[in-house]
Amino acid sequence: MCDFDKVIERRGTSSIKWNVQYSFGQKDGLLPFWIADTDFASEPKILEAMKNRLEHPIIGYGEPWDNVYKAVQGWWERRHGWKADTDWMYIGSGVVTALYFNLKLLVPEGERVVVFTPVYDPFFAVIKNSGHELAECPMDHEDNYYTINLERFEDELKVGAKAVIMCNPHNPVGRVWMEEELGEIVNLCRKYDVYLFSDEVHADYGLTRKYTTLGRFTEIHDKLIIYTAISKSFNMAGMVSSCLIIPDSGMKKRIVEDFASRWMFGPCDLAFNAIEAAYTYGDTWMDEAAAYTASNVEFVQSFVKERMQKVQVTKHEGTFLMWLDMGCYGLPSSKITEMLAKEYGVALGDGSHYGACGEGFMRFNVGCARQTLEQGLKQMEKMYEKYVR
Ligand SMILES: Cc1ncc(COP(=O)(O)O)c(C=O)c1O
Repeated sequence: MCDFDKVIERRGTSSIKWNVQYSFGQKDGLLPFWIADTDFASEPKILEAMKNRLEHPIIGYGEPWDNVYKAVQGWWERRHGWKADTDWMYIGSGVVTALYFNLKLLVPEGERVVVFTPVYDPFFAVIKNSGHELAECPMDHEDNYYTINLERFEDELKVGAKAVIMCNPHNPVGRVWMEEELGEIVNLCRKYDVYLFSDEVHADYGLTRKYTTLGRFTEIHDKLIIYTAISKSFNMAGMVSSCLIIPDSGMKKRIVEDFASRWMFGPCDLAFNAIEAAYTYGDTWMDEAAAYTASNVEFVQSFVKERMQKVQVTKHEGTFLMWLDMGCYGLPSSKITEMLAKEYGVALGDGSHYGACGEGFMRFNVGCARQTLEQGLKQMEKMYEKYVR
């Protein structure tokens, strides 16, 4: 049993999340709830596997062995009810990097690529930087709940969009897409013959509902790439690794050759040990991490309900990232972000970064010890008292 309540000091550990205090001109004391890594200690067996690897004194260029792929396969079959063929897998560096190169390879330059906003902002960068046009498809938002507007999506496809990037579960709005909803997306992608890039790195944080992988929709396999990773699930973003699942053998070959032609060798050797151990031994840890996160979500919901009543909490189904509507402050998100950090000592994610429809919202990473979360909320409440109450 892992002690998720334990506060682990991360200052001074090269953590981007915790070093943010310096960019706000604060020396110490700022509590960070922004970038998406958690403050949870990794599953000990993963760390042990990495330490064992270091018993050998040479870390050369590495490549995964069969059991690494089998571990990924076993995890998805056991936990998510889908058996991906190990031949479909490519273990490489980060998801964002892979998305960039995959878009560049598969989608002709200048074509439109759809995302459902508000959404994880590096998607905007990968679309633009790979020479494509960003097609923002704002989601519907009613009663603090987001849904994809299928008509709007189809309009984008009708005017020629060539690909869509799905985020499932969805960062930042916390939706865990239902099978029926995914089915509608798949049907439309099929109808217009577009690529479906499915970022499923938050898969293991389906908190109120089990997540459904798009891999189960065989009818789209020839156009589908699934991006998975231990980064979010096991709090291992620093390993800079991911596993792409590409069911179409022709597409997989092109992608692998593309990476090879760029001399991209994938993650560091230690990542392979981490992936194998995580997906082999990580079930209990993952269950506990998800349960702890779910209780943190409930804690935020009741704190806000009692003490920051005008803040709207988006209904939360998955991920460790919550989405708060702070429109009641009457301030732009950028200003709220700055004031929260500089005057109240908490760093949240500026909602406007996730698309124009994110203005007035803040993203709140609740993957931390309860004590840290409570302290952060109390500091946020002080600003609420001044500007809203
Ligand atoms: C949806 C999503 N995709 C990808 C990433 C980052 O992936 P990587 O670090 O492997 O590029 C994140 C990190 O927050 C994320 O939330």
